[in-house]
Amino acid sequence: MMAAIEIKELEKSYPSTFGTRRIPVLRGIDLSVEPGMVYGFLGPNGAGKTTTIKCMVGLLRPDGGQIRLLGRDADTLECRRHLGFLPENPYFYDYLTIRELLNLSGRLFGMAPAERRRRVDEVIRLVGLWGREETRLRKCSKGMLQRTGLAQALVGDPEILILDEPFSGLDPVGRKELRDLVLSLKDSGRTIFFSSHILQDMELMVDRVAIIINGRIVREGHLDDLISATVRHYELVYAGVDETAAARIAPGTERRDSHFILRAQTLEEINGKIREIQSMGGRVEALVPVKLTLEDIFMHEVGK
Ligand SMILES: Nc1ncnc2c1ncn2[C@@H]1O[C@H](COP(=O)(O)OP(=O)(O)OP(=O)(O)O)[C@@H](O)[C@H]1O
Ligand SMILES: [Mg+2]
Repeated sequence: MMAAIEIKELEKSYPSTFGTRRIPVLRGIDLSVEPGMVYGFLGPNGAGKTTTIKCMVGLLRPDGGQIRLLGRDADTLECRRHLGFLPENPYFYDYLTIRELLNLSGRLFGMAPAERRRRVDEVIRLVGLWGREETRLRKCSKGMLQRTGLAQALVGDPEILILDEPFSGLDPVGRKELRDLVLSLKDSGRTIFFSSHILQDMELMVDRVAIIINGRIVREGHLDDLISATVRHYELVYAGVDETAAARIAPGTERRDSHFILRAQTLEEINGKIREIQSMGGRVEALVPVKLTLEDIFMHEVGK
């Protein structure tokens, strides 16, 4: 099957402050995204996400490597027509209304007036801005602007949607709404590629993720596999014993109200502790696997 997005050995460097040398930012990125997927591009600040995305959408020229979208070279016009893009910091003419801005985008796509009107109405509904489309952009909340940016990315009915940090600045309700919106776009068969520096943004919605650190992809796969394969430790919460008993079960046990919490690396160790707790008349209240976070992966990769 032809990949929706195919990146091979992508390299990019920027000139240093005084232009005396070049600083490598992308050091050979390889990525492949199948059509219809929601794909997460995860990495800490400064890892190279935006640089990669700018190369994908043709805003930056790579120093080396290849980018193909739907089988075509990324820097062809034909290719751009199938692409919707939400930049990291969308900039709008803020005296326009939402509808005016979307109309303008439609015009840039060369849509005929009737088609444009129909499509603009459609995307306004799609992103949940119906009834608010006459609001001037300068009066829009961060959430409304983010939706407007998304609507703009959707005007041309793209097969591939590229979103750079779409969750930034949204409150929990806004995040949930955006997640639902992305999933409904996925249902319509689009390929969605989005970046974030927050692991939690990826949960509940991505099919696969690539983790980029310092210009290299360090992990790729199903998010669940990446995280569950890497439980960092377990926390066991128990009660019903006194402080001396708790100290005997595990030195350095933490006390919280009437509970004790101990940490262990393996399930074997945990089972041993549970037996001890029960033999002393205590009871287990909870067992929590503490999973790897992006920071842990980052620290691990940096420490290599
Ligand atoms: N125009 C530029 N000139 C010089 N250096 C740049 C330029 N743009 C980005 N950089 C540097 O390239 C590196 C990668 O930046 P990039 O914006 O791609 O990271 P990012 O992963 O998108 O980070 P964030 O999560 O903060 O958005 C950073 O060290 C940044 O300082
Ligand atoms: Mg960025």
